[in-house]
Parts: sequence; C-alpha cells; structure tokens
Amino acid sequence: MAVLVTGGAGYIGTHTLVELSAAGYESVVLDNLSNSCETALERVMEITGDNYKFYKGDIADREIYKRIFEENDIDACIHFAGLKSVAESVSFPLHYFQNNIIGSLILVEELFKRNVKKLIFSSSATVYGEPAFVPITEDCPKGEIPSPYGKTKSMIEEMLMDIAKADREFSCALLRYFNPIGAHESGRIGEDPNDIPNNLMPYITQVAVGRLPRLRVFGDDYDTRDGSGVRDYIHVTDLADGHVKALQNMKKGVSVYNLGTGNGTSVLEMVKAFQEANGVDVPYYITDRRPGDVGECYCSAAKAEKELGWKATRDINKMCEDAWNWQKNNPNGYR
Ligand code: NAD
Ligand code: WQD
Repeated sequence: MAVLVTGGAGYIGTHTLVELSAAGYESVVLDNLSNSCETALERVMEITGDNYKFYKGDIADREIYKRIFEENDIDACIHFAGLKSVAESVSFPLHYFQNNIIGSLILVEELFKRNVKKLIFSSSATVYGEPAFVPITEDCPKGEIPSPYGKTKSMIEEMLMDIAKADREFSCALLRYFNPIGAHESGRIGEDPNDIPNNLMPYITQVAVGRLPRLRVFGDDYDTRDGSGVRDYIHVTDLADGHVKALQNMKKGVSVYNLGTGNGTSVLEMVKAFQEANGVDVPYYITDRRPGDVGECYCSAAKAEKELGWKATRDINKMCEDAWNWQKNNPNGYR
C-alpha cells in the first residue's frame, strides 16, 4: 500500500516524505515541478535511503492517473500540490482558481474512480481571515479572505465537505497550517522560493546570507506586544509529522485540525531570535503595513493533540537554527 503525495517535490512535501519514510510508509510522488525541482527529491532519497516513484505531471492531467494506479497500489493521498503566492494570486486569480480548484476537483474524481477515499488536504490559517478571536480554534468562523489564493483553500475545503456529506466512506483531514518555517536538520532540504521571498523567514535568511540588503518590517503600529505582526510559526518537520499522525488517525467524514504551536511570535522577536540563535546580523527597517495583513494570528492546536496525539516540539530557536543551516549550506537554494 502506498500514499500518493501530490506536490511532493515542494517545501512541505519533501519534509513530509522524510517523515512518512520514518513511519514506514511507501510514497509515490506526483508533481509538475512548477515550483520545485527534482534535486529536492534526490536529496530526500539521500536522507531516507528510500526510493520514491516520481511522476512528473499535473494533478489536472487525467491520463497520468492511469499510469500511477496501474503501477502502484495507492491507498491514500496527501494533497499538497497547489500554487501558494498570495500576491501572485491577486494578479492572476484565474490561474489560481484553475490550478488549485480544478486541479483538486480532478484529483478527487480520479481517486474516487479507484475507490481511494482517504485524503489529507493542505489548508491554511488564511481561511480564518481577520480572526474573530485568538487563539484560533477550529470552530472559529471563517472571515473575509483577502486573496484569491486563500479563497481557493476555503472553496476546496467546502467542496470536500460536501463530497463527504454525500459519500459516507470518505475520510478527509483538512489541515490548516499556520506559518511553516525552518528546514530538515540535515540542511539538505529546505524552502527555496523562486523569486524574492514574500514570507518572513526566507527573507530573513536571504538577508543574512547577503542575497538581499535589508529586511522590511511591515508595520510597527499593530495592537501587539511590540507593534509588529504576530504569527504562529511552526517547524516544517513538526508540520510534516502532523501529516503522518493524521494519516494514522483517519476517520470517516471531514476532520479539521489547526497545525501550529499555539505560540505567537512577533516579527521583531523573530529577527532577534534569528540573530541570537545564529550569531549573524539581520539589518532591517520599519515600513508601512503590508495590505491584507492581520495583526495577530495564532492557534490553539489542542484538538490535534487530543485527537491525533500530535504536538509541535521544536521551538523558535530550533526553527531559526535549521532555517539558517539550510540557507548557509545552500546559498542559492537547489540551484
Ligand atoms: P511548494 O510550492 O513548495 O509546493 C507545492 C508543490 O506543488 C510544488 O512542488 C509545485 O511544483 C507543485 N504543484 C503546484 N501546482 C501543481 C499542479 N497543478 N500539479 C502538480 N503539481 C503542482 O509549497 P509548500 O509550501 O510546500 O506548500 C504545500 C501546500 O501547502 C500548498 O498547497 C500550499 O498552498 C499549502 N500551504 C502552504 C503554506 C506555507 O506557508 N508554505 C501555508 C499554508 C498552506
Ligand atoms: C509573517 C509576518 C508580515 C515578510 C502567509 C500567507 C498564508 C500562509 C503563510 C499559505 C507578517 C511580516 C513578512 C517581510 C515582514 N501561506 N513580514 N517582512 O502573511 O502570515 O502568511 O504565509 O497558505 O496564507 O498569507 O506570512 O511570512 O508573509 O508574514 O515584516 O518581508 O512577517 O507582515 O506579520 P503570513 P509571512
């Protein structure tokens, strides 16, 4: 029995392949490499010593599933494949709806044709919009979602919920990630954005390694401890482990879980933590708020702990060390 991992060559996918191997699962990867490369998969194989069957193709390509299912005994799917840039999605909404929503729809149809009815879906804290309360629990109402990217996540969630209502055999876990950062402790795999990073940690590491001059801190006038934005950063290996725990605890119907640490860290605290953990300088300046940002976003991960037996164990110091270990050993990412 194998797990089909869509988007398995990407940042979270590669780290999840490592944890799946450690837990004894066989994985088969489907990825079109639109935001990743084969080197990442080679590095995963180097870490785990396992071989993964890799299908280079699009989740919307119905033909590729014929080969995948003929050649493998797939029992469940972890669905990471999707485009994830908030800013890009504002400029190219159609592309995001096509890739993420239509792609997911076709994937689920093809799985159902073969009676594969266990699915784990990568959702996001972005579905909460401006959170009604913090710490955010899974029953926090969804807010106004500012980007087409975020809307794709919410719409796919809704679609999967309706499918589960109609088919009682469907087991589906919606994992709402908070802010994944860091890298595998080997320093061989990590986050490798194509362009100038949008997200905080890759921006910090690229400043530290000299690829970018200074970090812009977006706003110091939020109603937070020091005025900068607060997020729930989670080590990508803890997040990956959350997928293994979700897979081991699949139950019929849709289950929603927040995957975060439950702790909020501000931008300025993160800069300080990174400098202290690694003894490197991160020059920064304060600038205006970034449109669409919320002041504070952190979760209660109590439900995942109770139902999945999962809890994030790596602290901010470890996240900073591992992010830097990856960046300094791979100053140009996988290139
Ligand atoms: P990533 O871009 O590194 O990985 C996504 C992978 O999917 C890439 O390898 C890409 O080539 C592949 N892909 C994209 N569209 C595809 C398609 N149509 N067919 C086949 N492959 C396709 O991103 P990531 O950070 O690893 O994120 C994984 C998932 O988690 C995404 O769905 C993302 O939206 C979601 N997510 C990410 C974050 C985050 O901060 N990184 C937070 C919440 C949710
Ligand atoms: C974190 C904090 C910024 C960059 C995004 C998506 C979300 C999810 C995770 C996929 C904020 C501040 C950032 C910089 C800064 N992705 N910041 N300077 O916005 O919480 O979430 O990634 O689902 O959907 O929206 O993450 O890392 O961009 O920002 O000051 O150069 O860092 O303002 O307070 P965010 P982020």
